[in-house]
Amino acid sequence: MRIVTSHDTPHASLVPVSSGEACIPTPGSHPQEVRSFHGLALEAAKKFRSFFKDASGREPRAELLLTADQERLVSEWLGGPEGRQRVQRVSDRVISFLCSSIGHGHPGHDKRHVLFKDPIAGLRLALEEELSPCQELFILPSLLHDVGRLYEPTLFLKPQSGALGIDHAALGFFVTRQLIGDEFDTDSGSVELRIALANLRNEILNAVLDHQTGDSQRSFIAQAVQRADREQLVGYEMLHRSLAFDTGFFGLQMRGALLPERCHTLPLPGYPDDTHLFHHIEFYIRNLYPSIGSRANEHSDRGKIESGRFLWLASSPVMRAQIFAPEIARDMGREPSSGHFKKPLELRIWNAIKDYASNEVLQELTVLRGGRSLRELALAFVHPSHATRSDASGYENWGRIVTALDALQPLEKRRMGDGLSYGLKLGAEVERADREIVASAIARFGGEPASVLGKVARLVRDLPA
Ligand SMILES: [Fe+2]
Repeated sequence: MRIVTSHDTPHASLVPVSSGEACIPTPGSHPQEVRSFHGLALEAAKKFRSFFKDASGREPRAELLLTADQERLVSEWLGGPEGRQRVQRVSDRVISFLCSSIGHGHPGHDKRHVLFKDPIAGLRLALEEELSPCQELFILPSLLHDVGRLYEPTLFLKPQSGALGIDHAALGFFVTRQLIGDEFDTDSGSVELRIALANLRNEILNAVLDHQTGDSQRSFIAQAVQRADREQLVGYEMLHRSLAFDTGFFGLQMRGALLPERCHTLPLPGYPDDTHLFHHIEFYIRNLYPSIGSRANEHSDRGKIESGRFLWLASSPVMRAQIFAPEIARDMGREPSSGHFKKPLELRIWNAIKDYASNEVLQELTVLRGGRSLRELALAFVHPSHATRSDASGYENWGRIVTALDALQPLEKRRMGDGLSYGLKLGAEVERADREIVASAIARFGGEPASVLGKVARLVRDLPA
């Protein structure tokens, strides 16, 4: 039986995949070196896609995915000395590469996203479900999914936004391939085990390459990676990242932009008409792909409610009417007119948003604000733990955020103060919940020295500020 792999490194001398020593430029390497690595990555990703995808071009070929029997074989292998040792080596390489590169993370795709929030979301999934040792390996592509983002400033002078940043997935795929090297090629096992390990490797590579799409519904590993990442597109995490990244790098405005078409359509993130921060945040609460896991909806609903409450609190009445036009029309018993492309929020989500801003809550937010100026609030808001400073030298991000704040009208400034105060309150709650998840993960997975999840939980716990 032939084992199907895609070991097709175009320049094996530059990027050996069989020695276990990965020749990967760090994001701070010479730009020429990064550019040639980028070229190799695009070429390799294209080949991998045509090898891995079925005729639809979206879903994996069934024979290249792990079957239940293959997954059992891999899990057994992971319990033995060879599997344990090899996965230890891969995870050590992944962690040390990320730790040495993460200093190049920019606001939005930084230490907080890559080594803190995304792994915490992954650990929560692992705590909520009964995963096999094979399935637990999803945490490795999850850690690596955005590693390609770290190269964007070197390649394109500035980070890429939303759906336009597609090259980072190919770069991440290529980095992952080098870090795995030949660790999933074993000579000592059965042919069945070797096929299973080849498929494990395929699924891991595909998970990084496909993490931004809604594809790969048949691969648990890809879906788990997508879930951890998607959870960062709603709720507190999305709010502070949007301000730091989308306003900070791309100048998305906050001043009321009254556009009648925004009552029923939204721009795609990263496209030229994606110019307003609120509609950018709104896009994800209306269009979040569904995730896997028994508690996936609970988490995404909470995130949508948090994003929605911020939008409600931070908007002037006319912007509220524009953002929540489909829900307000439904409340008034009106059918959406034809050409309505904004999916109405589920009723319970909408009710949790609009009923939140009671007098008590507004008073609490005033107390929390503690007389701080809008700039002081925004500065605290964009800098939760482990976030890259938006006001660091080399970035003009803070200047753009200040410009957007200064453009607000007096009523909008008051509302934005409420929104940011709410965001800070939320941030403190999220921080507490995150610490609990990490502690539970250490208690559950940390006792087994070979556990990759335990290793990741300790990494997150001990992450230097
Ligand atoms: Fe991400």
